[in-house]
Amino acid sequence: MARGRLCIALVTVGIALAGLSLGLRGADNKDKGGGLVGAETCATCHEDVAKAFNAGAHGQLMAARSKDVLNKACEGCHGPGSAHADNPSKANINRKPRPEACLSCHPQAQALMAANLPAHGRNNIACLDCHVPGHSPAPAQPLLSAEPAVLCAKCHGNVAAQFNLPYAHRKGDKPFACTSCHTVHGENRTGNLREYGYSGVCAECHIDKAGPYVFPHPPRAANGCMQCHQPHGSANPKMLTRTRIADLCLECHTGLPSFHTINQAKYHNCQTCHIAVHGSNHDPNLKDD
Ligand code: HEC
Ligand code: HEC
Ligand code: HEC
Ligand code: HEC
Ligand code: HEC
Ligand code: HEC
Ligand code: HEC
Ligand code: HEC
Ligand code: HEC
Ligand code: HEC
Repeated sequence: MARGRLCIALVTVGIALAGLSLGLRGADNKDKGGGLVGAETCATCHEDVAKAFNAGAHGQLMAARSKDVLNKACEGCHGPGSAHADNPSKANINRKPRPEACLSCHPQAQALMAANLPAHGRNNIACLDCHVPGHSPAPAQPLLSAEPAVLCAKCHGNVAAQFNLPYAHRKGDKPFACTSCHTVHGENRTGNLREYGYSGVCAECHIDKAGPYVFPHPPRAANGCMQCHQPHGSANPKMLTRTRIADLCLECHTGLPSFHTINQAKYHNCQTCHIAVHGSNHDPNLKDD
């Protein structure tokens, strides 16, 4: 079929436009410099593929940017195609672009690739491990091969499973999107988190817990919430790191005033008295909000 179309193209184009830089097999002036021939030339042989690409999300976005970007698209990903257009074979064209190809148009995703930056870059996770090129409709936006929770679970099954624990960041039985807390490219933060600082990404939604308080309850470490909570899910109520809250408190508070008779049931629940676990505006001993 491609061959039939090719012949027609050769004849028509050959007669009507001989010498112009279209898909003329063997024509030596197709090369527009740097081995590039432009999308129109690719389309003379890959008509269906080109049509589908242009109609898809990526093609439409490129066209909206400029006609020139769209014209550079095929070779932006598949590499300069002059040799391939002259003598088509699988050997002289890249089927699967490397990240550098994507980065030629998306320099802002560069940080992902740097050796010292987040774990995905260090582990050579490439653009096309998560994105689709745009030859067919994308299963999820933006040009993703699946919804984030499913996509990320493909490689992070252990984390995804934590969202099934009794207490977890779920809406109904649907886990939160991983991207509500994580970024995937461009930011050099431990854990690929969207926010950093004491209360980190948690404060985006739980601003009331973040203070500032007149009597804050340290730790004020970066991502301090994680001193006591699990971010994804936990077997313990309130996604705490410990089953018994007293055990959690006693991790840091070893030398309590002696009237705290820990062997008495009354003292097993520290929050009977210290209710302001996140900080207080009234009481330095956190006994009042
Ligand atoms: C003269 C016709 C012709 C032109 C022009 C042409 N191709 Fe091809 N292309 C083919 C044929 C034929 C094949 C199949 C080769 C094979 O099966 O060995 C092919 C295969 C491919 C493949 C698949 C490679 C693989 O490993 O499966 C890609 C990708 C491709 N072309 C991209 C392009 C791009 C991009 C352009 C424009 C720069 C282009 N082609 C221009 C005829 C052409
Ligand atoms: C964003 C990057 C990107 C752009 C832009 C792009 N492609 Fe592709 N193309 C790919 C990838 C990736 C594959 C391989 C898909 C796979 O293996 O599932 C592919 C596959 C192909 C194939 C092989 C199809 C098959 O069924 O075997 C052809 C032919 C092709 N592209 C031509 C083109 C043409 C022509 C254009 C311009 C209209 C273009 N591509 C634009 C990334 C791109
Ligand atoms: C020829 C330039 C070009 C190349 C090559 C290219 N893109 Fe794009 N891409 C664009 C343009 C233009 C947009 C529209 C957004 C913009 O203007 O920045 C876009 C948008 C996107 C989007 C956002 C889609 C949305 O719905 O918002 C993703 C994701 C994307 N590209 C991924 C990729 C990946 C992955 C590759 C490599 C496989 C790639 N691109 C290669 C030009 C390109
Ligand atoms: C680990 C999976 C993953 C990898 C690898 C990845 N992306 Fe993305 N990308 C995403 C997700 C998820 C989004 C949506 C971001 C969001 O919702 O916060 C996105 C968004 C985008 C966007 C839309 C604009 C933006 O920045 O939000 C572009 C463009 C893009 N990616 C390009 C790339 C390029 C280029 C590469 C390779 C250098 C790449 N991506 C690698 C998952 C990935
Ligand atoms: C193709 C496999 C793959 C996919 C898909 C993938 N990751 Fe990863 N991710 C890895 C690998 C490999 C590492 C490094 C080893 C590890 O920590 O497990 C990593 C590490 C991480 C880390 C730890 C970062 C750090 O600095 O310690 C986070 C957070 C993360 N990924 C989030 C995501 C999110 C969110 C998605 C979905 C948008 C996603 N990943 C999709 C393979 C993947
Ligand atoms: C509610 C916010 C939130 C959501 C939603 C979330 N994460 Fe995380 N994630 C975090 C925080 C905070 C950390 C850092 C934990 C730490 O510092 O110990 C983290 C750590 C990680 C890590 C590295 C450490 C580890 O536990 O292996 C990976 C990988 C990861 N997340 C993947 C994911 C994936 C995949 C999803 C979606 C299925 C997801 N996260 C959803 C907040 C979140
Ligand atoms: C995108 C918004 C968002 C982010 C970011 C977020 N949360 Fe949540 N969180 C929620 C929602 C919504 C609920 C459910 C509230 C409800 O069911 O009443 C919740 C519930 C909780 C609960 C209570 C669970 C229970 O069993 O009552 C804790 C504890 C919690 N989050 C801690 C955190 C921590 C720690 C972080 C940072 C790693 C964080 N959250 C980040 C939205 C968020
Ligand atoms: C010192 C340990 C500790 C730290 C640090 C901590 N929490 Fe908590 N958090 C708790 C305990 C204990 C509970 C259970 C309170 C209860 O059952 O009354 C709780 C309960 C919660 C709840 C659910 C209860 C409610 O009032 O809705 C949310 C949401 C929450 N914490 C968010 C956060 C956020 C966000 C941070 C970081 C800014 C944080 N926590 C830091 C110990 C801590
Ligand atoms: C990760 C360590 C850590 C955990 C877990 C923790 N705390 Fe604290 N807490 C601190 C630090 C540090 C201070 C400040 C101590 C200081 O300034 O000497 C503090 C202060 C206090 C104070 C105020 C009195 C003072 O000395 O300033 C009370 C009361 C308190 N914590 C109770 C609790 C309770 C109840 C829990 C369990 C829900 C708990 N803490 C869990 C680290 C922790
Ligand atoms: C019956 C009430 C009660 C219970 C239960 C209780 N406390 Fe206290 N706690 C107090 C009072 C009252 C003070 C203030 C003492 C003072 O003013 O000197 C105090 C003070 C503290 C202080 C500050 C010590 C200092 O040196 O200033 C810490 C830390 C503390 N409690 C931790 C805990 C922990 C951890 C638990 C659970 C194992 C707990 N408390 C259970 C009543 C209680």
